[in-house]
Amino acid sequence: MGKIRVGIIGVGNCASALIQGIEFYKTSGESEIGLMHQEIGGYRLEDITFTSAFDVGVNKVGKHLSEAIYEEPNLVKWVQKVSDCDVIVKESPILDGVGIYVENKIKPVANQRPLNTLKDGVIEEIERSRTEVLINYLPVGSQLATEFWADVALETGCGFVNCIPVFIASNNMWAERFAQKGLPVIGDDIKAVVGATIVHRALAKLCADRGTIVDQTYQINVGGNTDFLNLKEVERLESKKISKTEAVQSVLPRRLPEDKIYVGPSDFIPQLGNTKIAFIKIQGRMFANIPFTIELRLEVDDKANSAGIAVDAIRCCKLALDRGLGGALVEASAWLMKHPPKQIEDSEAKKMLETWISTHSK
Ligand SMILES: NC(=O)c1ccc[n+]([C@@H]2O[C@H](COP(=O)([O-])OP(=O)(O)OC[C@H]3O[C@@H](n4cnc5c(N)ncnc54)[C@H](O)[C@@H]3O)[C@@H](O)[C@H]2O)c1
Repeated sequence: MGKIRVGIIGVGNCASALIQGIEFYKTSGESEIGLMHQEIGGYRLEDITFTSAFDVGVNKVGKHLSEAIYEEPNLVKWVQKVSDCDVIVKESPILDGVGIYVENKIKPVANQRPLNTLKDGVIEEIERSRTEVLINYLPVGSQLATEFWADVALETGCGFVNCIPVFIASNNMWAERFAQKGLPVIGDDIKAVVGATIVHRALAKLCADRGTIVDQTYQINVGGNTDFLNLKEVERLESKKISKTEAVQSVLPRRLPEDKIYVGPSDFIPQLGNTKIAFIKIQGRMFANIPFTIELRLEVDDKANSAGIAVDAIRCCKLALDRGLGGALVEASAWLMKHPPKQIEDSEAKKMLETWISTHSK
């Protein structure tokens, strides 16, 4: 099979983890660890190749991607060196990408050229590099910047994997635009491998399957990277809260009133770095109206948690491109993303995606 030519939007911790993780698999031969799929449509992990990259950090733009992924404020250091990443990181328009709390860490380039000039530049780079899948890793709250990049995907004929909670695949207008161009879009907002969302959903589903009533629940998340620091800016948080809350509400047989459910990122604790800690509590009633409580603490590397999903999303997107399937990919989005076009219970979504993969792999 040919390679999958991927362009990265936002060379932060998630991008760094994706690239270093693929290098780990290439060099260690440990292909049995931590992968949901060895192959999707004949594509293995090592078929993912990075052909373009875009950022705004003054210490990343103009560098080789293989160096930029180690630049501050990135924290991932899983492998010393990565191969096959010789592309130069190009400048992206800042638009609303950089929040007030992270500005002094990201250090965006000053005096950007006009938007049209930047757009011509990124389109030229994507076409020159024959990039075919764009993966969006912009900070939460990048509404305009994500829309800019979704437009670029449409103009350059790329598939789009939207890892962030700006609604593209789950927005009818955008999904329709991708469908009309015959281009696939997967989104929105990565549902991490063993993240707070899928664990919370599994517990809520278990409570429902066992006939209990869930009366109230919360999920608090803390972490120490720029993703969490950015989320201290409440105005940028709105879509993330919708995405995370809806992911849990949608598996409850009876929706909870707003004051009985809290799901959201809750604080930035610098010493945690890329470690994310989630606290989940569910209170309900079981047989004979007797109360019960579940409390759970999850500690996980947030970036391994994201990259393990991205490698499947990229390969599903490429498979759809190969087969000429346009629009929002419902099955892949439901299994891999928190805010898909259609919420489907996880075990069902997994089955549907396996069927989708095997149908289109033939
Ligand atoms: N488990 C997870 O890590 C997880 C799960 C779901 C969603 N996400 C989302 O993925 C996104 C990326 O997370 P991260 O940890 O890599 O964040 P990050 O802060 O490490 O990286 C963001 C990158 O985007 C760059 N950037 C900012 N504005 C830009 C612009 N206009 N154009 C191009 N680049 C720009 C920054 O310079 C930085 O390199 C976040 O929105 C996060 O919420 C992550």
